[in-house]
Amino acid sequence: MTSRTLVLLKPDAVRRGLIGEIISRIERKAGWTISALEMRSLDQDTLEQHYGEHKGKPFYEPLVEFMASGPVVALVVEGERVIEGLRALAGPTDPIAAAPGSIRGDYGVIVRENLVHASDSEESAERELKIFFPGRF
Ligand code: CMP
Repeated sequence: MTSRTLVLLKPDAVRRGLIGEIISRIERKAGWTISALEMRSLDQDTLEQHYGEHKGKPFYEPLVEFMASGPVVALVVEGERVIEGLRALAGPTDPIAAAPGSIRGDYGVIVRENLVHASDSEESAERELKIFFPGRF
């Protein structure tokens, strides 16, 4: 099924010079298209909207601080099975549990600094696209 998803290259990925590497992996997948891309710094309001479901959890405040620590790259990716596909390409939240070959498995060690965000469902994707690309999706 064709769908679309929001991907964020988190501040650690940008700082470490992994933008090109990660985008290349996405572009190599047959049938996936990057339909929007923007580098930007995230303000508190945007982060609160995006991570609202985690508010109150012990990792929430450090997560928001980390996500505001430098620019991110936000992408909209469209294509066949792209939501589950990008979650697989990213690997599980904890990079140590992520298989080699996945983005987190190849480049990550720290749970918070896990390089990428990818929407976890169609509902999340539609909600997140409106936060990051208002009026466009
Ligand atoms: P992601 O799954 O993209 O969205 C929620 C983020 O919160 C997650 O990536 C991590 O960056 C962070 N996170 C989730 N669980 C923890 C945790 N236990 N400790 C620190 N950070 C976490």
